[in-house]
Amino acid sequence: MRLTLFGFGLALALAITLGTQSTISAQEPAAAPPRAMVAAGANNFAQYCVACHGKDAKGTGTLAATLKPKPADLTGLTERNGGTFPRDMVFQVIDGKKKVKGHGGGDMPQWGDAFLASAGAGDADAVKRRIESLVEYLATLQGK
Ligand code: HEC
Repeated sequence: MRLTLFGFGLALALAITLGTQSTISAQEPAAAPPRAMVAAGANNFAQYCVACHGKDAKGTGTLAATLKPKPADLTGLTERNGGTFPRDMVFQVIDGKKKVKGHGGGDMPQWGDAFLASAGAGDADAVKRRIESLVEYLATLQGK
């Protein structure tokens, strides 16, 4: 009987632990519905991008005045790319693999590395999901 109770307690503890984990990973959904992903992207954007690109993503952040070139208007990505949202380009720019003017030179941090280094980023997969959430969020802002 005591053993059964112990087993039950263990299962309960495990369930609680797993429950907590799934709450945390809701921030960085793996195969999550786009809406949750967009919400996560909005959070990430508010945290890491607004200072330069601004709340409206048009390049109006508080640091924008000090930057040359100015932070890009991220609501015009589709327009500047001839009507197609440049998903891969955006991913690579955030990741840091694709260098654009004003990046790499220090004006725009390479978030792939920054996310990997930050506490709670977890691993390369979590970083990828985080960048993807930003890409999906930016996709919703096109033409706004
Ligand atoms: C320290 C300021 C700063 C921060 C923070 C910042 N950016 Fe940028 N971003 C820039 C600058 C400057 C450019 C380059 C503009 C240019 O070359 O014309 C840029 C360009 C971009 C571009 C390329 C746009 C294009 O049309 O080529 C994307 C995409 C982008 N940023 C996304 C993001 C995202 C997403 C975040 C947050 C994770 C972020 N940026 C955070 C300054 C910043």
